[in-house]
Amino acid sequence: MIIKDHITQISNVLVIGCGGAGLRAAIEIKKNGLNVCILGKRPKTDSHTVLAAGGINAALGNLDKEDSWEQHFIDTYLEGYGIGDPLKIEIMAKESPSLVKEIDKWGADFAKLKNGELDQRFFGAHKYRRTCYSGDFTGLSILKTLLKKSDQLRIPIYDNQYVTELLIKDNTCFGAMSFNISSSERTVHLADAVILCTGGHTRLWKKSSSRKNENTGDGYYLSLKAGCKLIDMEMVQFHPSGMVLPEEIEGTLVTEAVRGEGGKLINNRGERFMKNYDPQRMELSTRDKVAIANYTEIIEGRGTTNGAVFLDISHKSKEFIIEKLPNIYRQFIETQMLDISKSPMEVAPTAHYSMGGILVNPEDLSTSVEGLYAAGEVAGGLHGANRLGGNSLAEILIFGKRAGIATSKYSKKIDHQLRSNKTLEIAHANINKFIKNGDELIRPLQHELRLIMWKYCGVIKNKTLLLEGFSKVEKIKNKLDDIDIRIDKYNCQDLVLIFDLQSSLISAKATILSALQRNESRGAHQRSDFPSLDKSHKFNYLVSMDENSNLKISKSPLKELNKNLKIITLNAKKEEDIKDKLLE
Ligand code: FUM
Repeated sequence: MIIKDHITQISNVLVIGCGGAGLRAAIEIKKNGLNVCILGKRPKTDSHTVLAAGGINAALGNLDKEDSWEQHFIDTYLEGYGIGDPLKIEIMAKESPSLVKEIDKWGADFAKLKNGELDQRFFGAHKYRRTCYSGDFTGLSILKTLLKKSDQLRIPIYDNQYVTELLIKDNTCFGAMSFNISSSERTVHLADAVILCTGGHTRLWKKSSSRKNENTGDGYYLSLKAGCKLIDMEMVQFHPSGMVLPEEIEGTLVTEAVRGEGGKLINNRGERFMKNYDPQRMELSTRDKVAIANYTEIIEGRGTTNGAVFLDISHKSKEFIIEKLPNIYRQFIETQMLDISKSPMEVAPTAHYSMGGILVNPEDLSTSVEGLYAAGEVAGGLHGANRLGGNSLAEILIFGKRAGIATSKYSKKIDHQLRSNKTLEIAHANINKFIKNGDELIRPLQHELRLIMWKYCGVIKNKTLLLEGFSKVEKIKNKLDDIDIRIDKYNCQDLVLIFDLQSSLISAKATILSALQRNESRGAHQRSDFPSLDKSHKFNYLVSMDENSNLKISKSPLKELNKNLKIITLNAKKEEDIKDKLLE
């Protein structure tokens, strides 16, 4: 079917993704007096940001006066095993207090102390109480606040739009092609600059805290095709606590706030087993360590019959649980008829967060493609090999705002908008090529990919598993040409799914190839054939794509700490073994 019809929409800056990073960027662009337009594939009130439950970090020192941006830097850098970008971490640690106060003032209405200051709870591996929160629905309250602000500023948000391609000429991005998911009508969005805020790729794993049709790796595919590089793609965070039942929602997040508020992890012998993994920090150890502990208990036979461990908060009063964890309380009643104030929950590791992503300049979020920027989970560099809970909500506000400022400046500099009819023709052809009848259905292939990623590129990997996984992913990719795609003017779902699958396959390959290169275990990247951290392994791995869609891996030396950050880090009061392992 040859379709070339489209409508055209023009703005100064196009934001792709209507979660927290996209909204925060757009607010800044509008405040700069420019036209901005946001596209999202999910309903704007239900973007993935709503799933960041437990809180947002800012070194305010409201409860623990010793806290400081320096300590937030140290915790994030060292617990990320030294491969995060020091400048990006420094920016986050310094800027989160003002942005957290700002969003609270705009209406997020975080929990307060009696003196009116923001309350702060413990989250794993933070030295001090640093996590501000609204019950266990912090992401939702931030999203609602940003939507209200966007509405006041009359920022147009078009959800139900699927972006198939970034429009590129001479290594410059001048917009994107999208189609309406309900009507299949196509739009060419012309813009001086584009910001990708499309989230990560953790829906590729069978057990995932992402929901159906979200976090399918779209931004990774779009950016690779545009000419960007990805960094640290092997660093996929498994959250220690996902639900195991019922099967349809396996992997759904049980927030870290449960442990932050005193939840205990217990095996089938009744042991509080974290004493064997991190006796000092117990359940408030880092996510990688708690996830591996849960995983080990389960595979070594000390789990429950449902393949889980127990997470128990029933020693706290029902009133306390309902005040601090209202969603989780309700979630277990609704899905399992379980009252967590009386009985323990069953939890197991779940794929939760993509710590790698698009390689960006940490200050302005620009990529190697002129006019193309990336912020939020889709961008890499901040978390290294282990993300601290609560840093992702800080990330979306801080780097969303910075991307908004940078694209506004860029747009103001531009005298005329680029345009290429040839590029538009190719973008149409890249949609049209999929619209044909074939033998394969997408949903089973998507399911197969999720099983492959869980089995061959899961919590613990090795070379044999990864190579086998790669060849299985390749086999699915070979079926892309024979997929049955049926669209009409009311239903375009098949087209959405094939683009999702195309992005997922490329993201899966980028992840497996990077994991094969990193011959060591570090944070979330655990290799049974290389079980220790290799101190001499001072590299990030980068992925790029050639014109035949083949992926290439290269090594890049780690970014050095500047003199000040080095002094701060060397003097840090921190578990000595981490410092010894990472710093000379
Ligand atoms: O466990 C959680 O509430 C997740 C928070 C986060 O990923 O930052």
